[in-house]
Amino acid sequence: MDIEKMIEEMTLEEKATLMAGYGFWETQKIERVGLNEAIWVSDGPNGLRMQPVDENGEPIWGNGSIDAVTFPSACATTASFDRELMHELGSTLGKECQAEKCHVLLGPALNMKRSPLCGRNFEYMSEDPYLAGEMAVPYIKGVQEEGVGTSIKHFAANNQEHERMYESNEVDERTLREIYLPAFEKAVKEAKPWTVMCSYNRINGEYSSENKWLLTDVLRKEWGYEGLVVSDWGAVSDRVKGIDAGLDWEMPGNDNANVKQIVDAVENGKLSQEALDTAARNILKLVKKCRESMKGGVFDRDADHRKAVEIARECMVLLKNEEKVLPIREGEKVAIIGGFAEKPRYQGGGSAFTNSHTITSVVDVMDGYGPAVYAKGFPADEDIYTDDDFDEAVKAANEADKVLVFAGLPDSFESESYDRSHMRLPVSQDLLIERLVETGKPIVVILHNGSPVEMPWMNKVDGILEAYLSGEGVGEAVMDILYGRVNPSGHLAETIPLRLEDTPAFINFPGSEHKVYYGERIYIGYRYYDKKKMNVAFPFGHGLSYTTFEYSNLTFSAKEFTAKDGVTVSVDVTNTGSVAGKEVVQLYVGDRTGTQDRPVRELKGFEKVALEPKETKTVTFKLDERSFQWYSPQQGGWFAANGEYVIAVGSSSRDLRLKERITLVGGPEYLPEINFDTQVGDLLACPVTRPYVLNDMKDIVDKYAKVGEEESLSTMIEALLRYMPLRAFRNFVNAPNDVIEKHVEALKKIVENYSD
Ligand code: BGC
Repeated sequence: MDIEKMIEEMTLEEKATLMAGYGFWETQKIERVGLNEAIWVSDGPNGLRMQPVDENGEPIWGNGSIDAVTFPSACATTASFDRELMHELGSTLGKECQAEKCHVLLGPALNMKRSPLCGRNFEYMSEDPYLAGEMAVPYIKGVQEEGVGTSIKHFAANNQEHERMYESNEVDERTLREIYLPAFEKAVKEAKPWTVMCSYNRINGEYSSENKWLLTDVLRKEWGYEGLVVSDWGAVSDRVKGIDAGLDWEMPGNDNANVKQIVDAVENGKLSQEALDTAARNILKLVKKCRESMKGGVFDRDADHRKAVEIARECMVLLKNEEKVLPIREGEKVAIIGGFAEKPRYQGGGSAFTNSHTITSVVDVMDGYGPAVYAKGFPADEDIYTDDDFDEAVKAANEADKVLVFAGLPDSFESESYDRSHMRLPVSQDLLIERLVETGKPIVVILHNGSPVEMPWMNKVDGILEAYLSGEGVGEAVMDILYGRVNPSGHLAETIPLRLEDTPAFINFPGSEHKVYYGERIYIGYRYYDKKKMNVAFPFGHGLSYTTFEYSNLTFSAKEFTAKDGVTVSVDVTNTGSVAGKEVVQLYVGDRTGTQDRPVRELKGFEKVALEPKETKTVTFKLDERSFQWYSPQQGGWFAANGEYVIAVGSSSRDLRLKERITLVGGPEYLPEINFDTQVGDLLACPVTRPYVLNDMKDIVDKYAKVGEEESLSTMIEALLRYMPLRAFRNFVNAPNDVIEKHVEALKKIVENYSD
């Protein structure tokens, strides 16, 4: 395929035709110029939702997608904190795509979990951008190393389903840069996804699909992205504006609805030929790359089902385990209660929904684990109950040694396309759990949900296992954990708040009059709860094991370091229990320089380590300059103040075992913006400009001090000057405009010289 020749030969109309897909999942063919082959894209992040095709390669509609294997959703896989597992998942999916002739897999979804109510949280990875980025990279590499593309989505700030195709997210640049963009940034820079899917929503009034700042300035110019940008399905409003902004491909196809508009726009100079050619080139490059990397293969569904089970075991999070209620001991008689044991909820609804090959429920496999009886109690798909079902469940509980309640959110409670309206479980489930508590038997609740739920019974039950949406092998995986065949090692990739009203975006979700104010700014998830010192049900990073771990020997390559060199931190972790286990060792950085508004701590490193009983391993983290920086639009980029930072290492964001302070030196000073309105306090706070105020502006300052009846710059006068703009010297000491102007110019020079 000679791309440049094709571009040269294509008519304007043909190029305009190429700008949108053919049907739902394919690129257009333009046979006249030799573009005889198309590529196929398909959802989704946790299993293949490939449209079946007939013998002519035409899609067959109406019968759902192909028989596929459903892996755990991202809410679960991210909780593994296991980069290798993500790579394994990616490469398994990549191989499946090869076998099914899918050229691009539409995932992973990298939006942040801003509110637990977002209907798609199950598909999203975390409330923490560093964690999401770190987990996305190996997944993407895994898929792409198999010769199949990925599509990181939904770029950007698609954090709710309410009015998702229209609402405008009103969000400041610092918040975008620190919270909503970094997972995409890391994925682009480190894994080079073949495609990026722009989101439906608007950002500060501009559709992502038309947002030149986002799609060109940030994505391509700053991050160096070279792949294709595709629209989310139906995200295009003004196609011409989109091409100009850097949106290459519109999906799905629309029977050439926008061809005339594009042709007219080029003809009347509204759209440059160059912009159209760039988009055409990006599409053709993807087609060529995809076609050339197709090698075929075999989709062994049974083998991949086993992988789905293995992956699920690594993801479940043991939230609570009082008196070591788990694991179930040999011979213990267990009552298995709750419809989810029979009909597990193991995947979410919408575009990620797959047609599962083999679903194993707990009821299917329970005979292989120990003496157990099953009583439904409540159904998995509705919020209803009968007294008879409840009575039967209570009776089963009374006759058992331990009670396992399989609870969760029915499909109708969370899905793509709509948000949840509350954070509760179905009433029937909460009611039955309370009744089971009254039996006095040890109770363990196993949750099947894509996003946190309130747990009013949290302090009354003995154990809680968060199984999330664990894929089609959920039954085997969950039982392996409950019976101790596998030691749980998942940790929360999100905070579980006590109640919805506590959540950071509560007041600003889902917005009104088509606008959503991101009023909590950078304080989402644990950044918010920690800043406000709030109690939560279970903190970010939390996860128990059947063994215990001890942390010791926190060491640093240097206690004083420069941002450029960064710092290496290591810590020893020992398994102090009697069974093998895996610990998620987390490292958080907290800015204690006191110079800016920053979160108490932010995750900047993690490693999952497997340890035999009594074994010790040293875990090492390399902290680069970004680990300390925040984004300052005023300074024009990422910035870290000189001074102290606390490094904390531990098993969760609130179980920090070792802490120490280190000092950043030699970095640039934070510079004030200089103009007539610059506040004197900002000049005095900056070591670069302070001497000028004290020496060159001494006359003015002294005169001001006299007004305040002080002799010179005292603490009191300095405090009074803090919020005084330079221009106000006119009023307080009669400084003429030209004198102030002279100082402004001189200060500007000082700042400019320093920056150079
Ligand atoms: C979703 C995307 C998905 C696409 C294609 C959209 O509605 O937002 O995540 O990839 O449909 O199914």
